Amino acid sequence: MADRILNWVSERIPFDWDNLKHFTSEPIPRHMHKWWFCLGGTPLYLFMIQLVSGIALTFYFVPDPSKAYESVRYITEEVPFGWWVRGIHRWSGELMVVSVILHMMRVFFTAAYRRPREINWLIGMALLITVFTFGFSGYSLIYNQVSYWATVVGTNMAAAVPFVGEYMAGYLRGGPVISANTLTRMYVLHIGVLPTAAFGLLALHIFLIRIHGVSEFIDTSHGESRDDEDRFFPFFPDHLLTEIAIGIFLIFLVSQLAIIFPVQIGEPANPAVTPEHIKPEWYFYPVFRWLKLFSFQTGIVSTIGIVMVMFAWPWVDASIERRFPGREVSVFIGIAAVVAMVVLVLIEGLSGH
Ligand code: HEM
Repeated sequence: MADRILNWVSERIPFDWDNLKHFTSEPIPRHMHKWWFCLGGTPLYLFMIQLVSGIALTFYFVPDPSKAYESVRYITEEVPFGWWVRGIHRWSGELMVVSVILHMMRVFFTAAYRRPREINWLIGMALLITVFTFGFSGYSLIYNQVSYWATVVGTNMAAAVPFVGEYMAGYLRGGPVISANTLTRMYVLHIGVLPTAAFGLLALHIFLIRIHGVSEFIDTSHGESRDDEDRFFPFFPDHLLTEIAIGIFLIFLVSQLAIIFPVQIGEPANPAVTPEHIKPEWYFYPVFRWLKLFSFQTGIVSTIGIVMVMFAWPWVDASIERRFPGREVSVFIGIAAVVAMVVLVLIEGLSGH
């Protein structure tokens, strides 16, 4: 029976199954047994959870300023399990940001962006920006007081970018001020443009990982060497089973978070009343606090400068390495950057203004 089904499938999909077996059994370096090294799979899972929960939310959400808040309230209070699906969407988004940052730190501190993986670093940076833009556009859809004013601040920040700022802000707002056009644009960005961009970037990211293989680390201080026979293990089934276990755990985790910390709806947006404290999502705190330390324009220009250095990091690192060979200056720069980010998040989070 099984043979007949297999023959039926093989005739209709004439594919070399042995080749597929070979293709899926790519050798994985043994350090990928450690969770810290295979963190890249986590945002991938969370992205899938977000897609499924996001599609469910679009059945009820109405992208119109007079109805958006009410539709979010309806999802949260009246749709069966609406609060849970909304919670899963929100929590998987938060965890996606955390896991992307942790994955990026692992890539940075193991210098896995070095030749020949520079292009994958660039794609990763584009993914990072996509993930943050997902957060910003999603937050603006709720149309409560905090999210409305965070959108005002966010689009004002875009307007302060030299040369192209006014165009960018006008394009995002759909006019000189926040209006119904802004909500439509944020919605299209959130459910159309960004998922398409994320799919494309992820396909490229994984394609490059597949053709380069994951970078290998030989820890000679623990007696490892290039001659060890168990340097690699197969993707299928070993690594796939680990990833499936991580996936099941993540679904359980976001579901529990959605139940224990249900997402709130806040006060409806009131464009006439500016709240005393406007706070974006926590992952925008470093930029938000940075802007408060300088004049708005200086803050924006320096933020763009920092992001450009981050994009160019593989080449910046190569030139540092040429000047100070073997001194791991990049590691110290990385530690300083992480400390600075944590300090900025804490200052912004704890301060009342
Ligand atoms: C949605 C976001 C992302 C997803 C789903 C993702 C996924 C992955 C996966 C599955 C791997 C294989 C190794 C591992 O699991 O660590 C990987 C490797 C890699 N990622 Fe990402 N990634 C994302 C974002 C980023 C970011 C933000 C960067 C850096 C700016 C980055 C740079 C890299 C590089 C350079 C590698 C190769 C590492 C090596 O060969 O050791 N990725 N990514």
